[in-house]
Parts: sequence; structure tokens; C-alpha cells
Amino acid sequence: MNSKWSIDSWRNFPIKHQPIYSDLNKLKEVEDKLKTLPPLVFAGEARTLKEKLADVSEGKAFLLQGGDCAESFAEFNADNLRDTFRVILQMAAVLTYGASLPIVKVGRLAGQFAKPRSEPFETRDNIKQPSYLGDIVNGIDFEVSSREPDPERMIRAYSQAASALNLLRAFATGGYADLHEVHRWNLEFLEGSSQDNEYRMIADRIGDCLDFMKACGINKNTAGLVSKVDFFTSHEALLLGYEQSLTRIDSITEDYYDCSAHMLWIGERTRGLDEAHIEFMRGIGNPIGVKVGPSMTNDELISLIDKLNPNNEAGKLTLISRMGRDNIGNVLPSLIRKVGEEGRKVVWSCDPMHGNTFKAQTGYKTRAFDNVMSEVEQFFQIHRSEGSYAGGIHLEMTGQDVTECVGGSQEIKEENLGDRYHTHCDPRLNASQGLELAFRLSEELSKYR
Ligand code: PEP
Ligand code: CO
Repeated sequence: MNSKWSIDSWRNFPIKHQPIYSDLNKLKEVEDKLKTLPPLVFAGEARTLKEKLADVSEGKAFLLQGGDCAESFAEFNADNLRDTFRVILQMAAVLTYGASLPIVKVGRLAGQFAKPRSEPFETRDNIKQPSYLGDIVNGIDFEVSSREPDPERMIRAYSQAASALNLLRAFATGGYADLHEVHRWNLEFLEGSSQDNEYRMIADRIGDCLDFMKACGINKNTAGLVSKVDFFTSHEALLLGYEQSLTRIDSITEDYYDCSAHMLWIGERTRGLDEAHIEFMRGIGNPIGVKVGPSMTNDELISLIDKLNPNNEAGKLTLISRMGRDNIGNVLPSLIRKVGEEGRKVVWSCDPMHGNTFKAQTGYKTRAFDNVMSEVEQFFQIHRSEGSYAGGIHLEMTGQDVTECVGGSQEIKEENLGDRYHTHCDPRLNASQGLELAFRLSEELSKYR
């Protein structure tokens, strides 16, 4: 039996990956301030996302979740946000065609700040500093003034999230997301690249569909959906003091919702069954995700599902598999089978990024496009052979032309990584690599039709 949940019951549990603040009065002041600030999203919107994810769990839609590994204060501007939003829409258009299903679009945006790190401290030239834990906690520069965790940063992160959300809402509903425009961007992408004919064929078929719709009189004046999209936000619920401060009672259902984002997930390092993150997350009404890495056992997974989705509600829980391309074949099939045998309603999504990170000769942390693709393809094959539905994909990506992951049609090599390596944490797919993945995935999805 679970003990009684309250908004701060997590504080009685062991907790990992939290900053050590030296000024606890300041921390309390900031958390109290956050509690008075308006919610960033509404409970009703989180419920809408949950309904859409319920469709995903039943094989009637597909989830595309993507964005930064870590958002930063320095890189935040309208162009960066627009470009990431834009490439997500481009990918969604291609996937819609492949799957013949609605694509549920969720950004790792407008709040993806806090990072768990493998080491709490970093040492350079015999100087030891706290590790960089994301801009919501401390600064990336290797200096005392920057690395000391500062509670005030939570207020800045909140403001940036509010401003990002405002812009995303405008992009999603203000005409920028017009399907014809999105298609035109995809054609531009194909023109500028050496992509093979299969991708062109997909784009041509999408063009045909749009022409057909136009001929039927379906356009932005007759059907709002042609020029508007639903777009949701998500981030890892790591910094629990911040999450608690933005958790509010919904006046309609009287349930608690974490109003910092529509969807929150629990990371691989903080999903201990009797730890604070599971305790906090089991009490909120939002749809939630949990990362499922290669050490997960069948029984542990069922216990986790029991805690996080005790009423077996469709759309409530997304299992984000992040195994690595060499492990997925050994670990995932039995987990899928167990979840199926126990009749648990979940969305299965694939994060092909976090199990495939390696250090290049040049010292840069990177991922190879082929390894990412290999994990995605295995994820689909395994689900097909288990008779289960591969419901989504979870990516670290950006709309910028960065050089952080090797490979793809631009053939980024290890020696090119330094050219435009901008990430504050893990390497992201760039716009071209993201789109290429979408075209390849589209072919995979069409096999389900
Ligand atoms: C992440 O998604 O940024 C992350 C840290 O992933 P994981 O918890 O799967 O390692
Ligand atoms: Co990451």
C-alpha cells in the first residue's frame, strides 16, 4: 500500500541529484516566491495531452518528443526557438504521412533546464568545483562565482520558460505552422541536400495530398487545423523544489497538477522505487514519462507502473526506452512481454540518444547518427515481433546547423565536431539529421499501416 501523498511528502524520501545550496533561507524565499507566480500551463491542457497519449497507447497516434538536452539562458532567443519548433513540425509532417496517423508533438522546451550529472564535482588543474547542473541551478563557466548553486536562477528559468511558451503558443496558432509552409520547408531541405529519391518520393506524395485537399476546398480559411497545431511542453522533473512550487490544485478536478509543463518525466538516475522523485510524481495529474534503461528488470518495471499509474489509465504513463543499440535486443523484448501479459496500458517510446553517447578522439561527447538509427529500427522491429505498438520517439535535437552528432547525409566527422558544438550538455541531432531520421522513420511507420 502506498502511504498518503501530499505536495511535499517527497521531502521524507531519499533524494538524488539535487544541488547543495549554501543559503537555505534564500532557497525558501525563492520557492515561496515561485508559489505566488502564475502557472505556466493549465491542468486542462495537460488532460488534453493525456487524452492524445491515450490514443497513442491504443495505436491511434504517434508521439514525437524532442528538443534540447539542456536549455540555456545564453542561447535563448526567438530564432533558436523558432528553428527547433519548425524542424519538429517538418518531422511531424513527414511522420504523419508515413504513419497515416496524427502526430502528438511535445517539445523538450520551455523548462528543460535541470541536469543530472554522473559526477557531483569536476576537477580541472587540481581545482575542484561543483559540476554544472543546468542553468536553473548554476553556470557552466568553471569559476566559483558561476558554479555555486544559486536559488535565484529558478526565477530566471521560470521567466524564460514563460517567455518561450508565449512564443511557442503564438507559433502554433498564429499561422506560422501552416501545413503548406511546412511542406515548402521540407522541399527546400531536400533541394539543399544529397538525399536520395525515396525521401523525394515521400515529399511528392505529401505535396499530392495537399493539392488534393486544396481541390476539395480544405484550406486555412475553411479548416483551422491546416494552419494551427497542438504543441505541448515537457521536461525532466529533476529539481523537485521548483516542481513543487509550480504544482497547483486544479479547480475543476481538485487534483494536483504540476503546472511547469504539460508532461514531466523521471530520469534514469532518479527512478528508484522508494525515492523522492517517484513519490512526487505519483501524486500529480499530468501525463508522465519514465526513462527505462538497460538495468531495468521485469518486476521492477511492474512495481514502477503500479506506483505511477495505479489505476491503469491510458495516456498517463509513457515508458521511454533508452537502452543503447547493443543492449536493446537483449533487454526490451522481455519488458514489453511482461507489460503486455500484465495488461498495463502504456505508451512505449524510444530515446535512441542516451544509450549511444561516446567520447570522440577529439574529446567531444558525441553520438553517431547510424547508432541512433539502429536503436530506432530495432525498437520498431522488436515491437512488431512482440505484437506491441511502438508509439513514439524521444530525441535531443535542435533546429540549428550544429556539429554535435557524427554522420548523417552531411557526413559530419569527429574532426568536424569542434566547428559548431554549442550544446550545454549532450550532443543533439541538427536540423538535417532530425529530418533525415524522420524520413527513415516514416518508411518504418508505413509498415504498420
Ligand atoms: C535526458 O533525457 O536528458 C537524460 C538525462 O536522460 P536519461 O535520464 O535517460 O539519462
Ligand atoms: Co541528455
